[in-house]
Amino acid sequence: MIIVTNDEGRPGVGRTAALLAKGASRLDAIEAGIRLVEADPAIRTVGRGGLANMVGRVQLDAMIMDGDTLESGAVGAIEGFAHAITIARAVKDRLPHELLVGAGAERFAREVGAELADNLTDASAEIWQDWLEATVPIADRARWQDSAALAPYVRNAIKADLLPSDDDITAPVDDDRPQGADTTVFLAIDHTGALGCGVSTSGWAWKYPGRLGDSPIVGAGAYADSRYGAAACTGTGEMAIRAGTSRSIVLYLKMGLALNEAVDAAIDDLRGLKGGLIDRITIHAIDAAGASRVVAVNAQQDRQFWQWRDGEAKPQRIQAERVDL
Ligand code: GLY
Repeated sequence: MIIVTNDEGRPGVGRTAALLAKGASRLDAIEAGIRLVEADPAIRTVGRGGLANMVGRVQLDAMIMDGDTLESGAVGAIEGFAHAITIARAVKDRLPHELLVGAGAERFAREVGAELADNLTDASAEIWQDWLEATVPIADRARWQDSAALAPYVRNAIKADLLPSDDDITAPVDDDRPQGADTTVFLAIDHTGALGCGVSTSGWAWKYPGRLGDSPIVGAGAYADSRYGAAACTGTGEMAIRAGTSRSIVLYLKMGLALNEAVDAAIDDLRGLKGGLIDRITIHAIDAAGASRVVAVNAQQDRQFWQWRDGEAKPQRIQAERVDL
């Protein structure tokens, strides 16, 4: 058994590990862990407390995938719900679809009784208001919610330096400074040897309304196949979508590459991207035997991840490798 999650998964990794140790299935353990991350307002990139899009609304993406059946469930650009991961799980369990977005996803969430939440905390609203006033001239601000052209602002907006400092990242969990800069991703192998993955995010701050990142796109943001391995990405979703990064890693494993080689091959694929949004991305991967590798690509600072294996008393925080494209 193993759980690998990124630093933003800190509020949930202990719960996921405890559930796996008690014999829970990979998806039950992943969903329970991610729910704790979504509920933690200090994690400014997932669920409640997530940073807003350009028009000041928190839109969530999430996905869950079962490596035994290759069934997935995902939601994109949903507003007003506490646990996007649970709605994604319901898509997998109750619908003959893989991905719902926007109004349809919200209708489905109400239909299954998903918990409502106002995810825009006062702190996140204040950060968005400060950004708006610093970035957008008064004339555009007056018509910001309806007719203003947003596209001229979006590229610079999402590349703004939202990362907390190293001090923030290592701050204790009860500190109310923003913590975390990324989507949360969970990869797990349960007691049966089956793999699963889950992802939840509020995406880039100041993204264009309706923008989906890689997180709800199977094969981009995450992928799991119990026969070979699982992978998940955080950071610049546009890159993972273009390169199909998570699916590629699992496919490279299927082709016989070792885990290190499979991740290297996926990083090489990222080098092939020209134009568009090229920024930082972190790759998390495990193989079916339980080996793991996490690589922060184009990172401006060190990144950490959490890992737990059966027999260990508690999850360990580990430094990720760093590679520049
Ligand atoms: N990787 C998350 C996103 O791009 O939204």
